[in-house]
Amino acid sequence: MTTHATEHPLTGSALARKDRVPQPALLGRLATRIAWRSDRRIATKLMGFAATELGSSLDMIRASERTTDARLRRLYYRHGLDEARHAQAFRDAAKRLDPTGAEHTRSHEKLHALRQDLHEKLGEIGFVAFVYLAESKARRHFAGLASYFARPATPPAQRGLAELFDTIGKDENYHCTYSGHLLDEWRALGHRTEVSRALRKVRAQAAWRTWRNSGRRIGDVMVRVMLASLFITIVPIFALLQRLARRGTNTGPMWHAAPVPRDRLARNTTNATNLDRLRSQF
Ligand SMILES: [Fe+2]
Ligand SMILES: [Fe+2]
Repeated sequence: MTTHATEHPLTGSALARKDRVPQPALLGRLATRIAWRSDRRIATKLMGFAATELGSSLDMIRASERTTDARLRRLYYRHGLDEARHAQAFRDAAKRLDPTGAEHTRSHEKLHALRQDLHEKLGEIGFVAFVYLAESKARRHFAGLASYFARPATPPAQRGLAELFDTIGKDENYHCTYSGHLLDEWRALGHRTEVSRALRKVRAQAAWRTWRNSGRRIGDVMVRVMLASLFITIVPIFALLQRLARRGTNTGPMWHAAPVPRDRLARNTTNATNLDRLRSQF
């Protein structure tokens, strides 16, 4: 029941040039090759995608319950069903590829499977602006992955992923197109300023999220580098000091075990003997 990429979802006319999916850049292809390099990693990433699709589905269904426009209700509801189907398809593909990896969804990705109540938070125009930008990103991403897994060098077990990403990418293209045309309609009805403001706000929030996430990752790396440098610097200094002290006094190592008083030594020996006796009773 899904209308795919070649026609306008609201009017049935052919898609404009701007609606066609651009080819991924060289850097993007390289990043894909690193991130999707093994069956285990692919299964884990597919489970992350499944979580995101599930969260989108819940938000779309919620939006269909909240909107007062019958046409939007129908579009949102159908969109929600598409996303639920995508979640299931990604989960199934992960299990086929590596059942162990498919059992593992990374903790930060589990949060994506939750409803965010975006329709409530952003309002009708803001919500559609969010959907348009998120779906544009998804279709670019999936087009890149479809072409990556269609390479002749793809291992046989992974070859089905090209078709999976291509099929899901067509749905994302439809979601992107209908939301884009809704925004165009609102512009034509005199809401140009609200649409521009909503797109700016969603873009700014996405940029802030990206910056915050990358900042956290950079911070992690910096702390590890600093601790490693500290360790590499401090340990040789202590070793050198110990050697110098030994050479200066010639009395053996700098640190000695404190002498144990004779009576405490005797008491410890007695305690150890008692403990051995107690253990032997079990
Ligand atoms: Fe999707
Ligand atoms: Fe989508």
